[in-house]
Amino acid sequence: MSFSERPAKSYVFDPLWDQETERLATNEAIWDPGTAERFDRLGVGAGWSVLEVGAGHGGTAERLAELVGPAGQVTAADLETGRLVRLKEKGVEVLQVDITTGHLPTGQYDLVHSRMLVQHLPDRVAAVRKMVAALKPGGLLFLEDTDSLPLFRSVVSEDFLQDVRQAGYGLMRESGHEPRGGHYDLAAALECGLEDVSAEGRTVMVQGGSPQARHYQLWLEFMRPRVVGAGLLDDARIDEALAEMADPANRWLSQILISTYGRRPRGTGQP
Ligand SMILES: C[S@@+](CC[C@H](N)C(=O)[O-])C[C@H]1O[C@@H](n2cnc3c(N)ncnc32)[C@H](O)[C@@H]1O
Repeated sequence: MSFSERPAKSYVFDPLWDQETERLATNEAIWDPGTAERFDRLGVGAGWSVLEVGAGHGGTAERLAELVGPAGQVTAADLETGRLVRLKEKGVEVLQVDITTGHLPTGQYDLVHSRMLVQHLPDRVAAVRKMVAALKPGGLLFLEDTDSLPLFRSVVSEDFLQDVRQAGYGLMRESGHEPRGGHYDLAAALECGLEDVSAEGRTVMVQGGSPQARHYQLWLEFMRPRVVGAGLLDDARIDEALAEMADPANRWLSQILISTYGRRPRGTGQP
C-alpha cells in the first residue's frame, strides 16, 4: 500500500471541546517560536500574500500579519473560525473551510503554511495538492507535522510516560491521525511535483508545570475517556501522569516537528 492509500478517518480532536481554545493556545506556546524563526529564514516580509491553513488559535497568522504589513495579505483558514475573528482587526481575512471537501483560492499566494493539520486528514496528498494550487507559480509551500516517537523521552526514567504516549497515540492513529505525519509531508511534496524540496526537524525540551506542559495535560484530559473506555489505562494512572506533567522537576522532549519546504514550479498550469 503506498503512503497516499493509507486509510484515515476524521479529525480526532473536537473543535467545540470546552478546553480546546486553551489546548490550541498551549500548542502555540510549544511551536510558535520555531515557526517564526523559519518564517524569517524564508524571508517572509512586506507585501507577501500568505495563506495559513488549519490556523487554530491564530498565533501563526497573527505573526504573519505583522511580517507582511499593510502592503501584504494574510488569509487564515480553518474548520472552526470563532478563535480567529479577533484577527480581522489586524487585517487578516478569515476563511471557514473544510479542506477535505471545500475549495481554496487558486494561484494567489506567495506562501502557504500549514502546521499539524495534514497528518489528521484522510487524503493527505489531495489536501497538499489544494495547497499547491493556491500558490502563485514560484510560491512556497511550508508544511509542519510531527513524528511522535520521541515524545516524553526524559532523564527521569527510560519508560517515563511511555504508557501514556502509546495508549493516546495508538487511539489517535485508529481515529485517523498519522503519528509519522511529517515524513508523509515530504513524500507528498515530492509527489506533487514541487521544486527545491527539503525538510528538517526540531524538538522542544518541556518543563513540567509550564504552559508547554499544560498542552500535554490537556491532550491527556481530552484522551482520558477514550483511553479509559478502551481499557488501556485507568483513571488512577492518568491522574498520576498529570501530576508528573505538573512537576517542575520533570523535563521531557516534545514530538519532532518536521518542517517541509517546496516551491511550485514557475510557468506551469495546475500542479
Ligand atoms: C492540531 S490543530 C493545529 C492548529 C495550529 N495549526 C497550530 O499548529 O497551533 C489542527 C487545526 O486544523 C483544523 N482542522 C482540522 N480538520 C480540518 C479540515 N478538514 N479543514 C480545515 N481545518 C481543519 C482544526 O480546527 C484545528 O484548528
